[in-house]
Amino acid sequence: KALKAEIEQASVSAKEEVEELRIKYISKKGLVGQLFNEFKDVPVEIKKEVGQAINELKEFATNKINELKDNFEAADQGESGIDLTMPGEPLKLGSRHPLSIVKNEMIDIFTRLGFTIAEGPEIEDDWHVFSALNFPPEHPARDMQDTFFIEKDPDVLLRTHTSSVQIRVMEKTQPPIRAIFPGRVFRNEAISARSHCIFHQIEGLYVDENVSFADLKQTLLYFARELFGEKSQIRLRPSYFPFTEPSAEMDVSCSICGGEGCNVCKYTGWLEILGCGMVDPNVLEACNIDSKKYTGFAFGMGIERITMLKYGIKDIRHFFENDVRFLKQFESAN
Ligand code: PHE
Repeated sequence: KALKAEIEQASVSAKEEVEELRIKYISKKGLVGQLFNEFKDVPVEIKKEVGQAINELKEFATNKINELKDNFEAADQGESGIDLTMPGEPLKLGSRHPLSIVKNEMIDIFTRLGFTIAEGPEIEDDWHVFSALNFPPEHPARDMQDTFFIEKDPDVLLRTHTSSVQIRVMEKTQPPIRAIFPGRVFRNEAISARSHCIFHQIEGLYVDENVSFADLKQTLLYFARELFGEKSQIRLRPSYFPFTEPSAEMDVSCSICGGEGCNVCKYTGWLEILGCGMVDPNVLEACNIDSKKYTGFAFGMGIERITMLKYGIKDIRHFFENDVRFLKQFESAN
């Protein structure tokens, strides 16, 4: 009984002490163990009773020691049995798609200039993609070869440029309008290293009183320097779009070779990055905006093309294959 009380009181402060207790009490030479040795000298009449008591004592001691041991293990591993002292497994994080990285960067630049963001539908009609944008009825872009038609008469088609969102915004809002329109566009083109039937554009539109070509140039110069570096130069070449007059195409000095000449800029020192111009008065009128009172500029560019020039990517198809070996290279970019 005394031994039972002693065992009951036993407490330990370290895991190793549990083992000491086991040796002290229930090993062959331990205190309880010895009782078994002495058992042979017990008189026959009380052998049954004493034997039972010793067995109970041994079971009691064993349980107690196991309990102490379990306490230590539970403390080590926490309630769930997970060892919280083990170093964690690193979480594998995904990375942003390079097109998202560059798109966000472009959005940030224009947001700083006070442009808001608007979006429009990818499935469009002839009015928003062509007619309201001053495309003549016989314009080749209306050809099935260039545009994916879902239905003819009335036309349901996939937008070929984000300029359709200009129209949607101007139909709903009177100037001042200062917004950009990022989105996916579709063209019925053979897929190659340089072109794809699906790609992304960002369009910009600024309509207000007294908006001039100088405003357009300054906005685009700021944009080019933010995106390609502060030493960047821009160059505007006359061009033609049905919805702008005058129209231009803009080149930025090659950021890879700094204008020295390399195979990215084809040894010209310049990279063509966007189309732009002053909004044609016919377009303003089609949207019920007074073209005597207001003027505006617009520009549009391909996100794939800009991303390829910025990172020296040689094949547009990389963007759509989702090969992790390609995508992983942009982990540190954002
Ligand atoms: N929409 C034209 C294109 O897809 C780009 C552009 C936009 C040109 C706005 C001028 C003004 O090529």
